Amino acid sequence: MLLDGLAVIEAARARKVFDSRGSLTIEVELETTGGYGRYSAPAGASVGVHEAVAFPRGGVDEALRLFEELVAPKLVGMDASDQKGVDEALKEVDGTPNFSRIGGSMAIACSIAAAKAAASSLGLPLYRWLGGALATTIPAPLGNVLGGGKHAAAKALDIQEILVFPLNASSAHVALRVNAEVHRRLPKRIAKLDPTFSGGKTDEGAWVAKLSAEQALGIVREVCDEVGDELGCKVGLGIDVAASSLWDESSKVYRYAGEGVNRTPDEQLAFIEGLVKDFRLLYVEDPFHEEDYDSFAKLTKLVKPCLVCGDDLFTTNVERLRRGVELKAANAIIIKPNQVGTLTDAFNTVSLAKSNGFIIVVSHRSGETEDEALAHIAVGFSAPLIKTGVVGGERIAKLNELIRIEEGLPSASMSTLLLD
Ligand code: PGA
Ligand code: ZN
Repeated sequence: MLLDGLAVIEAARARKVFDSRGSLTIEVELETTGGYGRYSAPAGASVGVHEAVAFPRGGVDEALRLFEELVAPKLVGMDASDQKGVDEALKEVDGTPNFSRIGGSMAIACSIAAAKAAASSLGLPLYRWLGGALATTIPAPLGNVLGGGKHAAAKALDIQEILVFPLNASSAHVALRVNAEVHRRLPKRIAKLDPTFSGGKTDEGAWVAKLSAEQALGIVREVCDEVGDELGCKVGLGIDVAASSLWDESSKVYRYAGEGVNRTPDEQLAFIEGLVKDFRLLYVEDPFHEEDYDSFAKLTKLVKPCLVCGDDLFTTNVERLRRGVELKAANAIIIKPNQVGTLTDAFNTVSLAKSNGFIIVVSHRSGETEDEALAHIAVGFSAPLIKTGVVGGERIAKLNELIRIEEGLPSASMSTLLLD
């Protein structure tokens, strides 16, 4: 839909800002005739090899130089409400298949800033602009409470994230409270098992402890059940193994350095299947490395109705998802718009996922900015789950936005999952 000239981009600016890890990132702002949009790009630490390249050679400065030389002149004069056109223009000036010239961070900053500018020009909330009248579901928050892997500064849990999510919360407020309570009650339990625990956190605000996977899942399971009983809401438990970070290609094993154990792919399959059964897991992300579609497919079949979710496996990429659909490699997919660089590409992947019955999980990155747009994208895409941490200003920015969206949406209903 073109907005009668209200969304014509009149000015485009980009600058260097900082993310939650203190690393430099790109922020873009677009001024239209009747509105304004700004977005700053997040960054991953356990980055999939098939993701868009975050920055060109020459880093943030080179990305800014190319913005001035190529991107801004192209965007000015375009209509921000023509999202496809804006995203195609970004691909055209880049000219590579993975944004290695201008950088995926620059691309996604422009793409989402355009969506925000269009929404603002029309006087609509972003979720409404993206999702139309169908956007009425508030996603359940999938929150990282205990973690390690590449998100911890010191050796800790080998599995990157232990995640919790409310299954039948009555409102966004209750949903956030459930996750916050689980997070808040964990330190006491952790300290009993790990005397060295000093309250350290990962990049995403999850507790860092020297525990085995079984110890960690044992205490989180206990706390989930306790909080669930008290707040009258069932609490689901899950993991993001981020197994590409554990995989040793030369010796073909998963190296669990913290536990001092190596697992072959078959042992990994048995291990994960055991965790799902023993701890009643309802969500498993990246249990195998990013090229092992076959093991993904075996696990998906074995652990139904547990969600088996591809993050590094799919990297929000429609072609990789298509292969996953053919091979029945998963039943859920992580959607990180910066993995593909444009909202249009993320949307195309979401469409293919939905038409094949996959659960959509719209996700933050471990390096985030204070931007709240992810909440709108999740509602706009009608995602049943949003993965965006539990604590920390950059995570809370998105979570609190869910409360505001729900308040402004009388027809809103909270997503409920896996209750039957
Ligand atoms: P990343 O990790 O943002 O550091 O890539 C998050 C994830 O693996 O889900
Ligand atoms: Zn992941």
